[in-house]
Amino acid sequence: MRIVIAGFGSVGRSLVSHIVERGLYEKFRIVAVLDSKGAALNFEGFRKGELRELLSTPRGGASTLEKAGRPGYTLIDVLAEVPADVLVELTPSDYETGGAGLSHIRTALHYGLHVVTANKGPLVVAGKSLLEEAETRRVKLKFRATVMGGTPLIPLISSLRHSLVELEGVLNASTNYLITRVEEGATFDEAFKEALRLGVLEADPTLDLRGIDPAAKLCILALVLGRELRLSEIERDEVGEGIEEAVATASSRRVKLRYVAILHLEDGVWGEVRLKEVKAGDLLASVKGLENGVKLRTRENEVFMKGLGGGGRATAEGVLEDLMDIYEEGFRGPNTLATRE
Ligand SMILES: NC(=O)c1ccc[n+]([C@@H]2O[C@H](COP(=O)([O-])OP(=O)(O)OC[C@H]3O[C@@H](n4cnc5c(N)ncnc54)[C@H](OP(=O)(O)O)[C@@H]3O)[C@@H](O)[C@H]2O)c1
Repeated sequence: MRIVIAGFGSVGRSLVSHIVERGLYEKFRIVAVLDSKGAALNFEGFRKGELRELLSTPRGGASTLEKAGRPGYTLIDVLAEVPADVLVELTPSDYETGGAGLSHIRTALHYGLHVVTANKGPLVVAGKSLLEEAETRRVKLKFRATVMGGTPLIPLISSLRHSLVELEGVLNASTNYLITRVEEGATFDEAFKEALRLGVLEADPTLDLRGIDPAAKLCILALVLGRELRLSEIERDEVGEGIEEAVATASSRRVKLRYVAILHLEDGVWGEVRLKEVKAGDLLASVKGLENGVKLRTRENEVFMKGLGGGGRATAEGVLEDLMDIYEEGFRGPNTLATRE
């Protein structure tokens, strides 16, 4: 299966590392890698040594690779030259316009490629129309790594879509890290600096602190359930220095503070992101540090799931699962511009 990877940062590089480490480069032939400066191409698929060389390039350096490098190339340039079956879209999330990711996904679907993405922006801005376009083109659009990284919440909720009535979860790992570090005695400022050092905050931390990231995840979960929810409709509390006092108050009441995203599915669909006190024995209280955890309430049951919320390697593992699914379900689709050989 011939794969183009757009976005060669933390997740893109982790994906290539997994493919090298697991010896999957014959099954998954990476024919192009794009970053913001250009691309590296190989019609046959990069061999193990070349993938290692790509991994050793600095950020923004894919197009500097000897022979394969194509400075200034965009996805359209790449697809006009290299036959491909799947686009893996891993550029930064943009919740206003969908960013480069949205135009990459539209281009790929237009050319008949399957798409796997961890990029939330395009799904929040245009998820329904992208899914419709994929269906029309008879290709797959998979995005399990957009929510909870490598922890398979999306496959789980799609299996509960007829009975789920409410979802309540800690869906943003970096704010959970801040809150649980403050619980352990750090100041907000110290915890924030630690989170920056660990690289767990979004490039624009206000996406985490203002609850835009967890709200975006609620929009994607609603999409999986066939419901429509706009980011602007979701009410959000914000995380800031005030959590020091809120954590102390919660502690004096023997409860825990958690930043909880809630999707209500009875009487329409609506979402909210709240700083909420939960009982010490509540399953959400057990979600600590960089973990995510979610309670799913169905008509007759309550299911709880917890795991790493993100990180390059865990997220890339989710991307790899989607690629495996496409490979096993049959990836030969209507084909690309360049495949009109
Ligand atoms: N990291 C996580 O834990 C995690 C978890 C779940 C979902 N996600 C989502 O996964 C996506 C990737 O995350 P990441 O952490 O890997 O981000 P990242 O480290 O910032 O990498 C982004 C990559 O996209 C490239 N890029 C930017 N604009 C581009 C364009 N117009 N054309 C081609 N490439 C472009 C960047 O190029 P340069 O290298 O030249 O800068 C970089 O290689 C994001 O949408 C993120 O929200 C991430």
